[in-house]
Amino acid sequence: MSARIFISRDSGALCVGAEEVAHAFRKAFETRGLDVEIIRTGSRGMYWLEPLVEVATPQGRVGYGPVRLSDIDALLDAGMLDGKSNRLSIGIVDDYPWIKSQTRLTFKNCGIIDPRSLEDYKAHGGYQGLAKALAVGPKATVEEVVTSGLRGRGGAGFPTGIKWRTVADTPPQQKYIVCNADEGDSGTFADRMIMEGDPFVLIEGMTIAGIAVGATYGYIYIRSEYPDAIEAMEIAVREARKGGMLGKKVAGSEFDFDMEVRAGAGAYVCGEETSLLESLEGKRGEVRAKPPLPAHIGLFGKPTVINNVLSLASVPIIMAEGGPHYRDFGMGKSRGTMPIQLAGNIKHGGLYETAFGITLGALVDEIGGGTRSGRPVRAVQVGGPLGAYFPRSLFDTPFDYEAFTAADGLIGHGGIVVFDDTVDMAKQARFAMEFCAIESCGKCTPCRIGSARGVELVDKIVKGDDAAANLIVLEDLCNTMKFGSLCALGGFTPYPVLSALTHFPEDFGAAKKRLEAAE
Ligand SMILES: Cc1cc2nc3c(=O)[nH]c(=O)nc-3n(C[C@H](O)[C@H](O)[C@H](O)COP(=O)(O)O)c2cc1C
Ligand code: SF4
Repeated sequence: MSARIFISRDSGALCVGAEEVAHAFRKAFETRGLDVEIIRTGSRGMYWLEPLVEVATPQGRVGYGPVRLSDIDALLDAGMLDGKSNRLSIGIVDDYPWIKSQTRLTFKNCGIIDPRSLEDYKAHGGYQGLAKALAVGPKATVEEVVTSGLRGRGGAGFPTGIKWRTVADTPPQQKYIVCNADEGDSGTFADRMIMEGDPFVLIEGMTIAGIAVGATYGYIYIRSEYPDAIEAMEIAVREARKGGMLGKKVAGSEFDFDMEVRAGAGAYVCGEETSLLESLEGKRGEVRAKPPLPAHIGLFGKPTVINNVLSLASVPIIMAEGGPHYRDFGMGKSRGTMPIQLAGNIKHGGLYETAFGITLGALVDEIGGGTRSGRPVRAVQVGGPLGAYFPRSLFDTPFDYEAFTAADGLIGHGGIVVFDDTVDMAKQARFAMEFCAIESCGKCTPCRIGSARGVELVDKIVKGDDAAANLIVLEDLCNTMKFGSLCALGGFTPYPVLSALTHFPEDFGAAKKRLEAAE
């Protein structure tokens, strides 16, 4: 058998030269007359090591990274194809502490399999979840997802099984499964990674959802900024259809289910589920008033399950291993695992999947290794642009929906953006209001007008223009936005603003001198 090496095709790896490295290895093998197969995978999620090149050995895959073009000859000379260790070697990848300490359920196969091969997916346990769903039937499938305790990973944390049950309980008619792959939150990339690295797991999850609730068609709405994910999903949908896993009589069963990929034009608010449905229908992305819920009147007026990529991609393992297996991980009402994304000014940025309950401090300091700049961590924003800023004093907060709510924050889609001590928190508060003003769909006044007034107020406070009075007005405005907005864009923008004010008051007004003194 020829030697095999694995190089990621994930866009995070491509950005740092994975394509060029793969090409150079191919040429080097030709020049040296070596018979080596290069398999393109997704990423393992250790972005500081990309391009990571892995070599199959009898002991497991041995990793080398980050590999530059200039390293290739030296690596081959040093016996890389036999897994020999050298300067870039990280040893057996599965034993590497960053990987070994994770609990990979949703990302089990990401970075391991060839995302374009249905056969490879099946060889790694793919479609066992669907087989189980077909064996137990739609009703028991819904109940298995309820039992798992899975909550929506898109941000709101609503129980997935309960949403499915609502759609399943509507009378038989055309129903839809919509996958929300808009992934607009700052510092998040888990949806993209799974679509690029293990697209069949999402297709399988959507197929199970369709069969469970009686839907025969699905749409994956992917942001246009993700061309590689769009391509990966389109290839996988075609392969699944060719292999009989989509279309009429899925996997030889009595059920029909098919799907297509749609590219969004790029608006943060199009990640909000009703706005997304409008956009899918070809209209301007504007939020719909609720009720009716999409579960009753959704896409094209039909009952619709709309779920995040990670929610749907977690379903195959839940079905294959059983709801109780998944539920056994986690804490409190946060069950299972969360693919956490470490981003911003962080030494070891990437994807870390672990059971709920790990503390914020462990994630930032131990797993992430602190800042990349080497300066002290001052603040982290969790949950995207609508998430709160946490100071170090809250680093003992466990990663858990309820614990974050109690600390006036949110987990959102699991993105953590790290800032060092040079961050100006007044600027961050202003940015939150400015972001809301730019991205607002304009349907309701507290958000449309409130965010513009919010920017002006932060500016006045920082300038010291009647700061005490304007602070009171800002807090009042935040409350109006919180309680008067139609959706969470206007409703949650106060969280980053108020958390910056509460935890970092010294950055508002005269205390800007703190920064100047630090320089
Ligand atoms: C402004 C805004 C943007 C959102 N963006 C996303 C997004 O990019 N991806 C996502 O899955 N959910 C997003 N959501 C949440 C969705 O409205 C919805 O809760 C989610 O798609 C439901 O799926 P889940 O239950 O699997 O999380 C957003 C919500 C708001 C208010
Ligand atoms: S809160 Fe903002 S984004 Fe949401 S409906 Fe109102 S105007 Fe639109």
